[in-house]
Amino acid sequence: MKAYQEMSREELLELQEELTKQYEEIKAKGLSLDMSRGKPSASQLDISMEMMDVLNSKTDLKCETGVDCRNYGVPDGIPEAKRLLGEISEVDPDHILIYGNSSLSVMFDSVARSMTQGVMGHTPWCKLDKVKFLCPVPGYDRHFKITEFFGIEMINVPMLSTGPDMDMVEKLVSEDASIKGIWCVPKYSNPQGITYSDETVRRFARLKPAAEDFRIYWDNAYSVHHLYDEDQDFLIEILEECVKAGNPDIVYKFTSTSKISFPGSGIAAVAASKANLEDFRRYMQIQTIGHDKLNQLRHVRFFKNLDGVHEQMRKHAEIIRPKFETVEATLEKELGGLGIGQWTKPKGGYFISFDSMEGCAKAIVAKAKEAGVVMTGAGATFPYGKDPKDSNIRIAPTFPEPEELAMATEIFVLSVKLVSIAKLLENK
Ligand SMILES: Cc1ncc(COP(=O)(O)O)c(C=O)c1O
Repeated sequence: MKAYQEMSREELLELQEELTKQYEEIKAKGLSLDMSRGKPSASQLDISMEMMDVLNSKTDLKCETGVDCRNYGVPDGIPEAKRLLGEISEVDPDHILIYGNSSLSVMFDSVARSMTQGVMGHTPWCKLDKVKFLCPVPGYDRHFKITEFFGIEMINVPMLSTGPDMDMVEKLVSEDASIKGIWCVPKYSNPQGITYSDETVRRFARLKPAAEDFRIYWDNAYSVHHLYDEDQDFLIEILEECVKAGNPDIVYKFTSTSKISFPGSGIAAVAASKANLEDFRRYMQIQTIGHDKLNQLRHVRFFKNLDGVHEQMRKHAEIIRPKFETVEATLEKELGGLGIGQWTKPKGGYFISFDSMEGCAKAIVAKAKEAGVVMTGAGATFPYGKDPKDSNIRIAPTFPEPEELAMATEIFVLSVKLVSIAKLLENK
């Protein structure tokens, strides 16, 4: 099949007629499929079910220092949980605080704290005329929603295959003291599945921001979420790089077990310099008398150590790898060489990122919806929901069952073809 751009008007019209027939047939089936949710499927959740048996009424519920986990206290998290999350985050347990069930809420709190209390003694952001954040795009919609919620101005920074465009990041943060942070998903990024290169991480560590209270929001949500046993991405550890660069306080590193155990019922943690952690503690001690230590105990006794976590992630990969491969194979078979879309082929994480021809993404998502397939809203991967090129679509292959996913992908590619043809016909 030749590239659509090379086709004559007549050829496009003929193809359009044929594809429309296929589309109408599928639409008549009245399907209801969902490729929008970055959630594990039920069979992935089943992998963790034995965690439910780890604690019962006969279990000794003391942590290793003898504290009764049924009661208040130990706001930093029990030592064995700090060790486990420290291993996952590749930092010493002294540099970890354990939180509740969600890393996103720790990120929300961190922005809220900076707004009302300021960062390590600096002026609270709410007292400044302007506060800005850099947002690598495409990125995670919920990050952007947090900064939007607090009225922080967001600046798009393009993602390259090595991570955010560091020339732009370096220039902007060194010149503008109102830039106070940057959102990063450094490994198997949401939505492209990109892992930052060593050089990118080192350039982050060496940043010389105009604002002393500038922080890198390093959301390592997919640190152990490999799809393949051998072919894995590697991310260098940023806290240590920052210490080496003489910039120990510049980063907050977030993580959670959401997509390791149970999303919404996992444990979250933050890793940072001791000075930063003091800031976190001062806020946390007003906020809570301690997080859920029984859940910490449950996780530690179930996983035991990092090997246990890797073993669990291999089981997840066995379930989701074929789903990624189904989507990628269909995209390649149906769209390869047509010049109407490009997509990423991640080695881990939860998403595939698709870029259509400019000005087509919204229409493609609408077309798929009309035939019963829900995709993440076009534009969601950009601050304020505005994709300047209207071309990025996030594909989430993990949640649907394999047959549903195959059908949903067929409908998606058909929608891409039809919308692209309509676009090309506008100029013929
Ligand atoms: C990059 C990223 N960070 C954070 C989260 C949410 O994490 P948590 O469940 O720990 O709040 C997600 C969930 O999709 C995510 O993709």
